[in-house]
Amino acid sequence: MNDLLIRGRVLTFVREPQGMEDSESYRFYEDGAVLVGGGKITAVGPYGDLAAAAGERVQLIDHRPHLVLSGLIDTHLHFPQTQAIASYGAQLLEWLNTYVFVEEQKFREGKHAAFIAGRFMDELLSNGTTTAVAYCSVHPESVDAFFTAAEERNMLMIGGKVMMDRNAPEALRDTPQTGYDETKRLIGKWHGRGRAHYAISPRFAITSTPEQMEIARALVAEHPACYVQTHLSENRDEIAFATSLYPEARDYTDIYARYDLLGRKTLLGHCIYLSDREISVLAEAGAVGVFCPTSNLFLGSGLFDRDRFDRLGGRYAVATDVGAGTSFSMLETMDEAYKILHLQGQRLSPLNSFYRMTLGNAQALGLEHRIGSLHVGADADIVVLDSRAKSAMELRMQVASSLAEELFVLQTMGDDRCVAEVYVAGKPMKRATGRVVAAR
Ligand code: GUN
Ligand code: ZN
Repeated sequence: MNDLLIRGRVLTFVREPQGMEDSESYRFYEDGAVLVGGGKITAVGPYGDLAAAAGERVQLIDHRPHLVLSGLIDTHLHFPQTQAIASYGAQLLEWLNTYVFVEEQKFREGKHAAFIAGRFMDELLSNGTTTAVAYCSVHPESVDAFFTAAEERNMLMIGGKVMMDRNAPEALRDTPQTGYDETKRLIGKWHGRGRAHYAISPRFAITSTPEQMEIARALVAEHPACYVQTHLSENRDEIAFATSLYPEARDYTDIYARYDLLGRKTLLGHCIYLSDREISVLAEAGAVGVFCPTSNLFLGSGLFDRDRFDRLGGRYAVATDVGAGTSFSMLETMDEAYKILHLQGQRLSPLNSFYRMTLGNAQALGLEHRIGSLHVGADADIVVLDSRAKSAMELRMQVASSLAEELFVLQTMGDDRCVAEVYVAGKPMKRATGRVVAAR
């Protein structure tokens, strides 16, 4: 395959922006390019320099005037809930029992799991998301379907079989032993195969007995390269129930701490009602709180307090949390994140939003050497964004005068219609909107 020279307005982050004016936190090339070969980025910079240095057989794709960024990253969602988005009228525990635990039973069927897994990956790509961290269902078939669909598209994906052995319908329960055996077999089959990474996934303290938590502890100790994902402190009724099931724990966070589940590869969905003590425990362990804005509003869960995480040194990431989350779009997610923080008197600058969707989430996953920014040697996962994709955006953009303003328009008004193209390991996946100029 020829090398690709992707031309456009190239934006990539090198660290977290400190406010609206922090031009040291990113690189921006108004007429820039990314050179791609063998699925990797081989050069980034001004188009003129790269075009002069590029070989004869490079294929030029001109995306001007669109923005070219590193592919977006979603750090928490549920692939078996793809058809449970927009389930009406309930808060977390009722919503799980009424809708989600019914929907997830369908994933016992490999055929259904494969169908949804394919559509799920395509939906992510349509929204410019090239990497995601997902829960599968309790069924091993769902994990096979998930990683098979990712492999077919060569996507770097993280996922795992949910473990749950109580407080769920019989058809969705495993046991400590089957949870252990199946997880172990799936790790052996998938972790490190191509671009796949495994996440050990006890759903949350409510649906795992102490015996299963012991098993989770053993799995994590035996597979330190795997991620761990679970839920923490999303809803007041959930917190009361979880802590009643583990009366010896000081608080909800302590339940996971007691089973050695908190580490730098641990992702904890929601983290809304944590005390300072709990955030400090997470910070000490390097565990990551995951802010899920559309979900937190949709289920009426509450408001993530980012500034307290920052003050106490807690790591955090951002995510859609489909199907409690109402959109696969990370742009729409950051729009809601802005509003949630705004309600609490906290600011989220557009630079920071775009950093969070890319490099920030890659750092939360410890994958910043591979994804999240456009640098030489990185995997060529790239998104192309059109800030004028909707007529109202085009009108708004007529009076925009800075890059930060353009990013804010994209985040506030944008959705999948703004994703002009997405490349996975150098391969265009969406549609050929970029003008293929010529093979040079
Ligand atoms: N807590 C435990 N399971 C879930 C889930 O599927 N979605 C959300 N939002 N919270 C959970
Ligand atoms: Zn979740």
